[in-house]
Amino acid sequence: PRSIWISRHGESMFNLSGQIGGDANISDRGEMYARKLPELVKQSAGDLPLTVWTSTLKRTAQTSRFLPYEKLAWKALDELDSGVCDGLTYADIEKEYPQDFKARDADKYNYRYLGGESYRDVVIRLEPIIMELERSENILIVTHQAVLRCIYAYFMGSSQEKSPWMEVPLHCLIKLTPRAYGTQEERIHADV
Ligand code: F6P
Repeated sequence: PRSIWISRHGESMFNLSGQIGGDANISDRGEMYARKLPELVKQSAGDLPLTVWTSTLKRTAQTSRFLPYEKLAWKALDELDSGVCDGLTYADIEKEYPQDFKARDADKYNYRYLGGESYRDVVIRLEPIIMELERSENILIVTHQAVLRCIYAYFMGSSQEKSPWMEVPLHCLIKLTPRAYGTQEERIHADV
């Protein structure tokens, strides 16, 4: 059975400051994950020749740069566009856009940031990625939290409406293997 591997980028400077979106560099800890990742992948995939798909944002390229495989950057793998809230913290959003903050909490899947996207929008823009994934082999995707939630829900056959609340930890490589009775999952956590 074919597997796919997925990971978030290493911790970014925005993760540290609690800001959302943006195009920040990875932190020192993120850098440690980037250096560890080739070993984790080897542990999970052995000598399979993988292809790495990243977003077009710096933090996914930086996280992938030590992986000895061919790489492809997809705009469709960029993080959910938070529009006017890009670069803000959740506390900033609650203060500056209190209505939006509430509306998002009430319906996180359908809530679309002003000038940005909803999870529903992301699911739609991921369709070409999913199609390409279905006809490819040995793909490792290094991308962002919201995007990973959607891809994960697709492969696990779980509800997209609930996926915005799902925890996808940093510094963890997830291997998904679709099987007749459901998708098998293996997680390897990096100790960084
Ligand atoms: O905080 C990291 C991050 O990837 C942000 O860039 C993004 O807006 C957010 O997570 C998505 O998570 P949520 O939909 O839970 O706000």
